[in-house]
Amino acid sequence: MIEDSFGRVHDYLRISLTDNCNFRCFYCMPDEEYDFTPASRLMQANEIVTLAEIFVAEGVKKIRLTGGEPLVRKDAALIIAELGKLPVELTMTTNGSRLHDMLPALLSANIRSVNISLDTLQEEKFLLATRSRSFKQVLSNIELLLDHGIAVKVNMVLMKGFNDSEINDFIAWTKFKPLQIRFIEFMPFSGNRWTSNKVFSQQEILDVISREYIYHAVASKPNDTARHFKLPDHFGSFAIISTMTAPFCDTCNRMRLTADGKLKNCLFSNGETDLLTVLRSGGDVLPVIKTCIWQKEKELGGQLGRNFETLNAEMLNNRSMITIGG
Ligand code: GTP
Ligand code: 5AD
Ligand code: SF4
Repeated sequence: MIEDSFGRVHDYLRISLTDNCNFRCFYCMPDEEYDFTPASRLMQANEIVTLAEIFVAEGVKKIRLTGGEPLVRKDAALIIAELGKLPVELTMTTNGSRLHDMLPALLSANIRSVNISLDTLQEEKFLLATRSRSFKQVLSNIELLLDHGIAVKVNMVLMKGFNDSEINDFIAWTKFKPLQIRFIEFMPFSGNRWTSNKVFSQQEILDVISREYIYHAVASKPNDTARHFKLPDHFGSFAIISTMTAPFCDTCNRMRLTADGKLKNCLFSNGETDLLTVLRSGGDVLPVIKTCIWQKEKELGGQLGRNFETLNAEMLNNRSMITIGG
C-alpha cells in the first residue's frame, strides 16, 4: 500500500506518455516556443510497464494515461495493450483527435471510459484555442466512443471572457447524449497566461446554469475531484472541478508520473522524484516511491484556493501543464 503521512491511501496513478501534442492550447502550453522532450529522455514502453507493475503490486487500482496528448506517441497502442493486461482500471485523458485510429486498441484493452478535452462548441473558437482543425473529428470521435459503449466525460476548462458564454450550450448537449460535461476552474501553470480574473468559479457556473435549468446535486464517489449534478430529463449530466474556489485535497489519492519518469506527489508540487534514473541504474524503485508519497503536503491545492486572488502562475515554480498531464 502507498500512503502519505496524513493517512491518504494512494491508489490512482496518472502516467504521462509524452509532453508532445498535436494541438497548441494556450492555457496548457507555455507561450514561448516549446521544445518537446527528446525520445531518449522519455520512459520507454517497457519502462512504463515495469513501473506500472510496481505500482499495481502496491495497490494501485486505476491508471490514467495522459500527455501532452497520449495518442501522438507512436507506440501508444502497444503501451495500452500491455497496461490492459494488468489488474487495474485503465483509462485516459485525450484531446480526442486520434481516437478513431485507436478504437480497436481501446476496445481490446477493455477501456470503459475516456475523458476528452473540449473547451468550446464553436469551430472558429476551437481553432483559435487549439490551433487545430480537428473540431469535427473530435465531435465525431465522441459519438464513436458512445456508440461503442465507452463512457465519455468532456473536460471544459472555463476561462472568463473566452468560453463562459457557452456553459448552457454544453448543458443542452447532455439532453439527448449520455455525456458527462465537467466544467473546470482555470488553474495556474507555468506559461499558461493564467490570471485570477479569468477564473470562472463553481458558484458562477451554477448561477449561469440555474438561469435556464433545474438541476440537483448527486453524491460523488470517494476520491472524486468533481462535484456531480443531474438535470431531470437529460440523458447526460454535469460536474464541476473547483480547485481554485473549493479544493478537494482531503481525499486525494493521486500520484503522477511524468513522461520523463519523475514522480510528482501533487499536481502543484515542484519537488519531483526521479524514478526513471533509479530504474535504469537497477535500483529498488519501491522505497523511492513510498518516500516521495509520504512527503506529500496536506493541501497545496487548498493553499492556492485560499490565496488565488494574489497568485501568479510563475511564482508556483511548477512545470507547465503540458509536461504534467493534469
Ligand atoms: P477521473 O478519474 O475521471 O476523476 O478524472 P480526473 O478528473 O481526475 O482527470 P482528468 O485528466 O480528466 O482531469 C480533469 C481536471 O481535473 C484537469 O483540470 C486536471 O488537472 C484536474 N485534476 C485531476 N486530478 C487532480 C488533482 O488531484 N488535483 C487537482 N487539484 N486537480 C486535478
Ligand atoms: N486548468 C485547468 N485544467 C486544465 N487542463 C489543461 N490545462 C488546464 C488548466 N490550466 C485540463 C485539460 C485536460 C486535463 C488533463 O487538464 O482540459 O482535459
Ligand atoms: Fe491532490 Fe495536490 Fe490536487 Fe490537492 S492539489 S487534490 S493534494 S493533487
